[in-house]
Amino acid sequence: MNPVHLELINVSKAVFRKVNSTRVKTQILSSLDLTVQHGELVTIMGPSGSGKSTLLRLINRLSETDSGTILLNGKDIRDYDPLELRRKVGMVFQVPVVFRGSVRDNLAFGMRLWGNDIDIETLARDAGIPDNLLDADADPLSVGEKQRVCIARALANKPEVLLLDEPTSALDAKSAHRIEELLLSMRRERNLTMLWVTHELAQAGRIDGRRFMLREGRLEKHV
Ligand SMILES: Nc1ncnc2c1ncn2[C@@H]1O[C@H](COP(=O)(O)OP(=O)(O)OP(=O)(O)O)[C@@H](O)[C@H]1O
Ligand SMILES: [Mg+2]
Repeated sequence: MNPVHLELINVSKAVFRKVNSTRVKTQILSSLDLTVQHGELVTIMGPSGSGKSTLLRLINRLSETDSGTILLNGKDIRDYDPLELRRKVGMVFQVPVVFRGSVRDNLAFGMRLWGNDIDIETLARDAGIPDNLLDADADPLSVGEKQRVCIARALANKPEVLLLDEPTSALDAKSAHRIEELLLSMRRERNLTMLWVTHELAQAGRIDGRRFMLREGRLEKHV
């Protein structure tokens, strides 16, 4: 068995909602545990509002746990420099947001930040971005094209772990299948560890990872 890559131990998270100007506490994640091996693909399903995005956001510290511990390679994620952590743990969001500038600028973002020596042309090609889009302004691209840019931009950081928050939900079925294939082939090539949140039972079946359902703040095995 591969060594443990990511471990969530007893993780809890509550949010506060303002209701009639009173702060009301709602527990979203309750003593949640998850162990993920190197190179493993884990799919997480669960109804809307169950806390899937909240869970992913904790793993690269876009938000903080209330209690519990998250370990990456055995080290508490709070002991990593936050930027270093976000380089190691990439995230692709449900709705793609491109940075200002060209597609090339977007893909070179990590390179400027980290001095990574990536081959932008090859990365773009791997992500299915046509050559003629590379120097085009990223802003007017279609949602599917933007999602490819976001995936390529995340991969340009050479992450160890990729968090996917419903990466195909804004796409039509055909584009969604293409992005799915792309992510799966990139995972195989790069031996990425992936946590893939999806609404769709059918998609979870196709991508065939270890499956969990987020229910009442915890992950239950889903067969
Ligand atoms: N910063 C916040 N302040 C208040 N409530 C929040 C905050 N973030 C999340 N929530 C609430 O926490 C719950 C879980 O949200 P989350 O976005 O994690 O759900 P989700 O499972 O990703 O849902 P979806 O499938 O619709 O994306 C929701 O009820 C949401 O309203
Ligand atoms: Mg969500």
